Amino acid sequence: MILNGFLLKNPLRVKGFLLIGLLLFFLSNSFISFSQSAEAEKNFAVCKVCHNIDGPKLIGPTLKGVTERREEAWLIKFIQNSQALIDAGDPVAVKVWEENNKIPMPPNALNEEQIKDLLLYIEAGGKVAGSEVTAEVAVEEEHAISYDEATEEFLAEMKSNDYRHMQATFIAMIILILVSLFDLVVTKFVTQKWILIVIMMIALIVSGEVVFVEATNLGRQQYYQPEQPIWFSHKVHSGQNQIDCQYCHFTADKSMHAGIPPVQVCLNCHNQVRKGKITGTVEIDKIHAAWNDKKPIEWVKVHNLPDHAYFNHAQHVNVGKVECNDCHGPVEKMDEIMQVNDLGMGWCVACHRDREIQFSNKFYEQYTQLQEAVSSGELKRVTVMEIGGDECQKCHY
Ligand code: HEC
Ligand code: HEC
Ligand code: HEC
Ligand code: HEC
Ligand code: HEC
Ligand code: HEC
Repeated sequence: MILNGFLLKNPLRVKGFLLIGLLLFFLSNSFISFSQSAEAEKNFAVCKVCHNIDGPKLIGPTLKGVTERREEAWLIKFIQNSQALIDAGDPVAVKVWEENNKIPMPPNALNEEQIKDLLLYIEAGGKVAGSEVTAEVAVEEEHAISYDEATEEFLAEMKSNDYRHMQATFIAMIILILVSLFDLVVTKFVTQKWILIVIMMIALIVSGEVVFVEATNLGRQQYYQPEQPIWFSHKVHSGQNQIDCQYCHFTADKSMHAGIPPVQVCLNCHNQVRKGKITGTVEIDKIHAAWNDKKPIEWVKVHNLPDHAYFNHAQHVNVGKVECNDCHGPVEKMDEIMQVNDLGMGWCVACHRDREIQFSNKFYEQYTQLQEAVSSGELKRVTVMEIGGDECQKCHY
């Protein structure tokens, strides 16, 4: 939206005198500090995705003159971890953040020296002495894939453990029944027949239970991980680039549905970011194709509650202050979204039994009686259960 059309008018950046001036300025600087180097250029490749030094605003503000409008110490802190500064309530940081539609800038693992170096590079208008190399080259080098094997293993294990457990129990029970039966009829080691019969009964009940659980799970889709029309990775966006969940799922705190972002939201960034480290241009091109064809992207829904059950995101995210991860698992580590909980009634109720209400939240002012009971020591804790989290009609239409 803000960025739409920008690419059409990428302006010429040759501004003769200014450039020479900046170059001279930079040269004098590097003689004094000896530090401003090709490394700065490489480090700036990361920033380039979102910032122009000179030219139109991208995702973040244009950085020309930033060293004049901000203190150096502030810049170091902000570049290292802007969100920490914003969370701490720094007025300047909060203002810049708000002016930029609250798009978070990802943290950078750079030390003070590297940042000072980077600031010199920015002051110099993005030029390194005696070198014609542009930042493009550095971008390519930086793009090595780091595949988080531990996460893959973790998710795969989660998926297989339950099944293995169920299968093993079932097979063990069947073997127990067969062995008992064999002894009862053929070998007759055990003289008291009732022992064998009790063993068989128990084995039968346990295996019946396994079958029952499997059957109720039929309608559920724990560990469901369908293929999506675009290789959209939460790990790349939420993990590596620290984009807030609610930047994309922007109705999660105000409506029943968290919602899937429309193509425009992707284009906020992908008008600029045209290439990914893992998939190159292939997947990102599909976003532009969808936009050009005026067709929505047909994402496959992963989480599905049956129609008779009612679930509301705003109630949990906004009122209950439940974290996304409590219900959806470590989404920021998943390349492809997987449903990690069974979303069964037992799962909902188990949390309601256990989760305490935070009375500091103004939504609970109406529960004065319960609050008094807590402050007088009559009740130790108030869980969601006490405010009706187990009433059938709250969850069923
Ligand atoms: C994913 C996009 C993104 C990347 C990558 C990024 N920034 Fe930012 N940057 C922003 C946004 C958005 C803001 C506006 C403040 C905010 O929302 O946090 C910002 C703000 C800033 C500011 C403050 C500007 C001002 O006017 O006060 C500086 C300085 C800055 N970035 C430097 C950097 C540097 C240096 C890097 C690379 C090491 C970098 N940024 C990488 C998005 C990004
Ligand atoms: C850059 C945008 C973006 C961000 C940031 C983002 N998501 Fe998503 N999310 C999507 C898109 C697009 C889909 C649909 C494609 C898919 O399922 O992978 C999706 C799907 C999901 C789904 C599955 C929905 C379904 O079909 O049932 C869940 C759950 C989810 N996101 C949770 C999160 C959480 C939690 C975070 C923060 C850690 C987050 N998302 C951050 C864009 C985003
Ligand atoms: C208390 C558990 C819980 C919490 C907390 C929660 N979700 Fe969900 N989420 C669910 C359930 C259950 C569904 C399936 C809803 C359905 O099928 O109607 C779902 C579905 C979704 C979907 C699919 C689209 C939709 O709205 O149905 C997305 C996207 C999503 N969640 C993202 C998020 C994000 C982002 C957060 C945090 C801001 C979050 N969820 C917090 C339980 C939760
Ligand atoms: C706030 C900025 C932002 C938004 C919004 C955003 N992305 Fe991204 N996206 C990025 C960044 C940054 C990268 C990483 C580029 C790189 O690999 O260096 C990326 C990478 C990608 C990649 C390539 C991954 C890879 O490594 O190959 C795809 C595909 C992608 N995004 C799809 C989407 C889709 C679809 C949406 C909308 C649902 C979306 N993005 C929204 C910032 C964003
Ligand atoms: C991780 C914990 C957690 C899980 C899982 C969870 N909830 Fe909740 N739920 C809460 C909290 C905390 C509240 C209190 C917020 C409030 O008062 O509205 C709540 C409140 C509710 C309420 C309102 C109760 C009332 O009396 O106002 C309903 C309805 C509800 N949940 C439905 C569900 C359903 C359906 C599921 C399963 C699909 C579910 N919840 C799963 C934590 C959870
Ligand atoms: C916290 C929310 C919640 C409450 C309270 C709740 N249910 Fe459910 N119930 C669900 C969800 C979610 C499902 C569907 C998911 C599943 O179990 O597969 C469900 C499924 C069911 C089913 C279908 C059988 C099945 O396992 O799919 C029946 C019958 C049912 N509930 C009856 C009740 C009755 C009776 C009560 C009151 C004693 C009640 N529920 C209270 C959330 C709730």
